[in-house]
Amino acid sequence: MNSVQTISAVQHIRRMRGGSQSHLLRASDNNFYITKFKNNPQHLRVLASEYMGTRIGTLLGLSMPEVRVIDVSDWLITHSPELRIEDAGNSLPCAAGLQLASRYVADPWQDHVFDYLPEVLFERVSNREDLTRVLAFDKWTGNSDGRQAVFVKRPKERFYRMTLIDQGHCFNMAEWSFPDLALLGIYYRDYAYKGVTGWKNFEPVLSRIEQIDIADLWKIAAEVPEEWYQGDTEGLSRLIETLYRRRSSVRDLITNFRTSSRNPFPNWTD
Ligand SMILES: Nc1ncnc2c1ncn2[C@@H]1O[C@H](COP(=O)(O)OP(=O)(O)OP(=O)(O)O)[C@@H](O)[C@H]1O
Ligand SMILES: [Mg+2]
Repeated sequence: MNSVQTISAVQHIRRMRGGSQSHLLRASDNNFYITKFKNNPQHLRVLASEYMGTRIGTLLGLSMPEVRVIDVSDWLITHSPELRIEDAGNSLPCAAGLQLASRYVADPWQDHVFDYLPEVLFERVSNREDLTRVLAFDKWTGNSDGRQAVFVKRPKERFYRMTLIDQGHCFNMAEWSFPDLALLGIYYRDYAYKGVTGWKNFEPVLSRIEQIDIADLWKIAAEVPEEWYQGDTEGLSRLIETLYRRRSSVRDLITNFRTSSRNPFPNWTD
């Protein structure tokens, strides 16, 4: 594994909604983290995909949460009755050991985190351009889910701050493959793309992808606990090499979406 410091969980706060059945925990550094467990109902590798996807997105300058490896003790699981996974009618305790932690984007006691904003409020998202830029990332990394984001407005502030979350379906989740369908990895509402007129709207992310250094991808891959990908180092190497090769295909992948029946960029002039 790696030199990145592991944190440990100290308190269970609450269960979150969603397919991976994540939990909000307080950690030894006194910060709060959304934690996805190794025995989540989706797949063990979701942890590896989300870790790498989020670290790569952050490297490209996208507003994604900090991700860490968090150690959850047997003691905390035994003493937190809610730390369980419900799967096909069975209820199991969450796994102990190294899990994936994504830094909670707000103050869990004071702020409200919104999963969706009505269209009229979209103009009030200070970093809304990131929702277009992240399309270059989602196409490159083969995000096989829709693009997800959360929005937070602090009391007395006028603008919402958006954070791009849930990179667990990058690299086609546990498959580490790239189906490249035109409508994968996109935001569920076209108003996100209203202002798009050309390639410049994907910058600086698009050029950063095209010029990425493979050493940076390797560095991120080396931070992932081996147990999250069952020690399949060959699979991991293949993934990094494929990703590196795909850096020059991103414009074609965006073009496939642009020319799809959805017609997401009606004001395109390039
Ligand atoms: N870093 C974060 N900060 C604040 N809230 C978050 C963060 N990450 C996730 N959440 C919240 O937790 C919920 C579940 O997270 P996420 O979407 O990553 O998991 P999921 O299980 O894949 O969910 P789904 O199946 O609904 O997509 C999100 O809808 C969001 O409300
Ligand atoms: Mg999700």
